[in-house]
Amino acid sequence: MSETIAFKPETIEQVNKIIARYPEDRRKSALIPVLHMAQKEFNGWLDVPVMDYVAELLNIKPIEVYEVATFYTMFNMKPVGKYVLEVCRTGPCMLKGSDDILDHLRKTLNIKDGETSSDGLFTLKPAECLGACGYAPMMQLGKFYHENLTKEKVDEILELCRQGAIALD
Ligand code: FES
Repeated sequence: MSETIAFKPETIEQVNKIIARYPEDRRKSALIPVLHMAQKEFNGWLDVPVMDYVAELLNIKPIEVYEVATFYTMFNMKPVGKYVLEVCRTGPCMLKGSDDILDHLRKTLNIKDGETSSDGLFTLKPAECLGACGYAPMMQLGKFYHENLTKEKVDEILELCRQGAIALD
């Protein structure tokens, strides 16, 4: 399986640097950053062969990778759209209207939570507190936060995404 899955040489270089930070018998400590790299390089989600490849690189059991990957919501366990809209729905964001933002996105994109729009562009993913409560309601898109959201602002962001004019990292 893993023979068809491999990081690009430049990514492997970074992976090896991360692994080298830890003692030989503690390679598992590199798991989370390596999973982030895997998700980024292999189409935005962690398929089983990808997780097996990561296990092989870190010299740990596949189950150890599955346990971590399925525990954290930042890892996607199924294919996602180009833009993953992670909308915070925890208390402060909820008080400031995250339910309305989520509803607006569900209607506009015609999807339910966790689904991807038919054009393959957007995946809607409600999230728990992302640490930007003072700027609620907010969502994360790639590495960036979009804050003080309104329905109008959300529409603008969707349009920028469609135009490929929004940064993800
Ligand atoms: Fe939404 Fe903290 S509650 S960022």
